[in-house]
Amino acid sequence: MGSLLDWLIHFPPLLWGLEQVEEVAIRALKHGKIPQHVAFVMDGNRRWAREHRVETIEGHSLGFETLKNLLRVCLKMGVKEVSTFAFSIENFKRSKHEVDALMDIAKNSLNQITAHGDMVDQYGIRIRIVGDLALLKPDVYETVVNVVESTKNNTRATLNVCFPYTSRHEISNSVQSIVHLAEDGKLVPEDIDESLFEKHLLLNDSHPLDWLIRTSGVERLSDFLLWQVHEDSQISFIDSYWPDFSIWRFFPMLIRYQLQSQQGE
Ligand code: FPP
Ligand code: MG
Repeated sequence: MGSLLDWLIHFPPLLWGLEQVEEVAIRALKHGKIPQHVAFVMDGNRRWAREHRVETIEGHSLGFETLKNLLRVCLKMGVKEVSTFAFSIENFKRSKHEVDALMDIAKNSLNQITAHGDMVDQYGIRIRIVGDLALLKPDVYETVVNVVESTKNNTRATLNVCFPYTSRHEISNSVQSIVHLAEDGKLVPEDIDESLFEKHLLLNDSHPLDWLIRTSGVERLSDFLLWQVHEDSQISFIDSYWPDFSIWRFFPMLIRYQLQSQQGE
């Protein structure tokens, strides 16, 4: 039996930190198919908070940390676009206290990741805020406009923060824009096809949605990306609450995604 030192020399992984394990896992996963566009329905923050006997807001704040970790590994793997359901228009029906807190978290989170040298800088991400921006309070709106403006020339990847969003709003908004163009004589009904319709969606100029993941055991789409889900999109529902959804739960799911993609080819 050798000394501990011998073991460590022969089995260097024992000396690795989680960061190195993450790098090795990413390198291995990159041999398989990497989805171009991944969407997250970040569900279960309040149930997580209730189970851990902490304030609801802590569940949402921790939810943002989960998003950052997943975003980091997605970007390292070469995912081109990540869409995330940060606030549904329906969420305005929640208590004023929770809505205000969610708005604050969104504002601070956006400021944090776009700060000099942080994630957006490091990975060259363009941020788009997708939703009915007219519903935002002036201070949140101002942050959103700054973030979109300051990242618009980044080309490596895109983060779509859907906020405040529903697909029904997005789709009816697209119809409205097209009808206005028709009224102005700029198009005739025969010009309307899928590609024209898509150009008028809030989430336009996007990669096809390859994979949608919803946490918390709820198996619904909840008015999220209804147009974007297409015949080849994979949909995964996982039982973990969003704050518990770590990259270590994400990696095995990605292996299953890769196997299923191979079977579908
Ligand atoms: C759903 O869980 C989660 C939300 C409504 C908010 C998610 C927002 C964040 C994680 C902040 C991210 C911010 C940015 C800018 C990206 P729930 O409240 O429905 O929980 P429940 O299903 O347990 O009730
Ligand atoms: Mg929920």
